[in-house]
Amino acid sequence: MFSTLLAAFWIMVPAYIPNPVAALCGGGTPIDFGKTYADGHRILGDGKTYRGLVSGVCAGIAVGALQIWLWGAFGWTFLPEQTAASVVILAFGALLGDMGKSFIKRRIGKNRGESWPIADQYDLVAGAFILMLVFDPAWLFTNITWQILVVILILTPILHRTVNIIGYHIRVKKEPW
Ligand code: CTP
Ligand code: MG
Repeated sequence: MFSTLLAAFWIMVPAYIPNPVAALCGGGTPIDFGKTYADGHRILGDGKTYRGLVSGVCAGIAVGALQIWLWGAFGWTFLPEQTAASVVILAFGALLGDMGKSFIKRRIGKNRGESWPIADQYDLVAGAFILMLVFDPAWLFTNITWQILVVILILTPILHRTVNIIGYHIRVKKEPW
């Protein structure tokens, strides 16, 4: 059980890093350049910026590179193997999922920062796994077993909430979700 938890966490590290780093480093030009969609609402909103996207993805990749190095240097073969492709896909997919969620959020009329339970917690998992399914399905099916998936689905909202509450108290995030 503990080994499954550790494996699930190890797999998700490159996808977990981008969101908090984007919250920490984000700001400036919004990805949608302030443009509105046909429905009159913003395409993505001011909560999705280039600085957040680039810093978040780079941080996820950097930590993933560290994981690849640790795995090889210390022979940590009891943990799932991250690759250059898996790390890039997980990090980028996480924020792609986050943007996809914001796009739909704006379409259903929710304002930037408004809470949208379930979607707010699982957007990064959906984005990372859908992108993995497209670009590296072999890695996905080798590493994401049913047990691992169940643990990821339990672990993700717990970590998400914990990190966001901390982010709120240290004034990095405007809302505790
Ligand atoms: N952020 C960013 N760029 C991104 C993602 C996040 O700059 N691509 C920063 C923004 O400052 C954002 C904060 O991280 O406000 C928290 O992210 P999130 O909760 O995903 O955004 P919200 O502001 O809640 O916006 P939304 O309602 O669209 O989810
Ligand atoms: Mg939010």
